[in-house]
Amino acid sequence: MDIESSTQEDGSQKVANDYLELLKTSFEWRYRTGNDVWSHEKALRAVTAWLLEHMDGHPPLKVLDVGIGTACNTTAVLEAGHHVTGIDLIEPPVWESLRQRWGDALTLICSPFQEWQGPKQAFDFALDLGCLHHQHPAEYSSYLRKVAAHLKPQGRFGLCVYEEPGENTEHGRMETTDHGRLAKCFTLVEAGELLASAGFKVRAVQRIHRPALDRVYLALVGELTA
Ligand SMILES: C[S@@+](CC[C@H](N)C(=O)[O-])C[C@H]1O[C@@H](n2cnc3c(N)ncnc32)[C@H](O)[C@@H]1O
Repeated sequence: MDIESSTQEDGSQKVANDYLELLKTSFEWRYRTGNDVWSHEKALRAVTAWLLEHMDGHPPLKVLDVGIGTACNTTAVLEAGHHVTGIDLIEPPVWESLRQRWGDALTLICSPFQEWQGPKQAFDFALDLGCLHHQHPAEYSSYLRKVAAHLKPQGRFGLCVYEEPGENTEHGRMETTDHGRLAKCFTLVEAGELLASAGFKVRAVQRIHRPALDRVYLALVGELTA
């Protein structure tokens, strides 16, 4: 996908809608064919455990999980006693049993996050385990501002993205995966600037190695400053 020319010809909103359809197709295919490697990845479990350490306050905190998928990684948050609202583009079959298991502690909503009309200033913590880095780059800023809008003042945001694997410490590469799904590799500089542009001050950073791919997850905790 030629992001530049598509943006110029069609306008960013149209590109974003077309791209959301592509994302839906890709993720639906991934879950249907058992190619959702992230659902069973030790590295993402480790990221979640690290982020849990930054959920300050007595449970139940109200946690928003953007791109919750099968909730495999969010289970630790639920087990810690927090209440989770999970949004996802598609509804994996496991959601039905998750609803029965967790009752009121887990609310699952099938919607693009961009279109979700949830409560503002309602959540103590927002989680994004591998969702932002697949969005269209034209949407990074508005996506993060939307995350901020749903958080309470001083709310925290735990973000996990692919880290740029090369030497460049300023600009990370954009990769393309199945169905044309984008995968942005962030440098710490880029991720920090993006978070700052949405009102977050970075409180903590962690890198977690993914042995199978010899790549690294970059996890950050941001806190709303205003
Ligand atoms: C890499 S998976 C990670 C899933 C989950 N966070 C985990 O840790 O297992 C990314 C998830 O984000 C969802 N997703 C991608 N773009 C989305 C969007 N714009 N709105 C809502 N969900 C989205 C996908 O359907 C997929 O389930």
